[in-house]
Amino acid sequence: MPNLPSTITRRLSPAKPLAAASVCTLLLAVLLPLVASAADPKEIGDQVAGRLFTSLMTTLQEKIASEGPEAAIAYCRLEALPLTAQIAEEFPQVQSVRRTALRVRNSGNQPDATDRAVLEEWLASWKPAAPPKPVIKQVTTDDGTKAIRYYRPVPVMATCLACHGSGNEIAPNVRAAIARDYPQDQAVDFQEGDLRGAIVVTFDAE
Ligand code: HEC
Repeated sequence: MPNLPSTITRRLSPAKPLAAASVCTLLLAVLLPLVASAADPKEIGDQVAGRLFTSLMTTLQEKIASEGPEAAIAYCRLEALPLTAQIAEEFPQVQSVRRTALRVRNSGNQPDATDRAVLEEWLASWKPAAPPKPVIKQVTTDDGTKAIRYYRPVPVMATCLACHGSGNEIAPNVRAAIARDYPQDQAVDFQEGDLRGAIVVTFDAE
């Protein structure tokens, strides 16, 4: 599991398309107004990151309630959400959606210099009751490609503690499964309200 790709790009298809996923996609396509015409990265970023965060939390809550936290481990991944594929279709301007953090579980989510600067700035003035507003950054990658990135802070909620908390908040079987799949894990000992990381939505600069 640690070696699975942790970034969704429009070039990748979802790992396991399920029948239920396509039903969801159809329903969403009918129910959600298509607003892809707005080219504002802030506006699209708010929608994409907001919906993914809600979907991640709901999925985790449901899986923990129905199958327990050990089985839910596979679901704290953007690729596990049917919504991710839907978003790639709905927003062609979106190049990729990924997550990063100062302390990561999957080493594929390590921050680059821009990610780190944003996260460190948030952490320096972090107030649990008032998370900072999303930020937009222009970046030029090593190969000279320009891109625009939208960063949304991800706070730790009570649901997250079953896998990112401390002491006996993480059940022994969950702790063992995490240690097996992510031997380099740094994403524990968080408290409710802490900064956990960021959702990053990347757009082509032109
Ligand atoms: C059932 C266990 C579980 C729960 C509950 C859980 N996570 Fe995770 N989390 C994981 C696993 C496993 C990964 C590594 C996923 C991967 O391989 O990309 C992860 C990765 C992440 C990452 C990506 C950065 C990194 O460390 O690799 C973020 C951000 C994150 N979780 C936030 C949250 C938030 C916020 C919550 C609560 C809403 C939450 N998680 C609840 C297991 C969990």
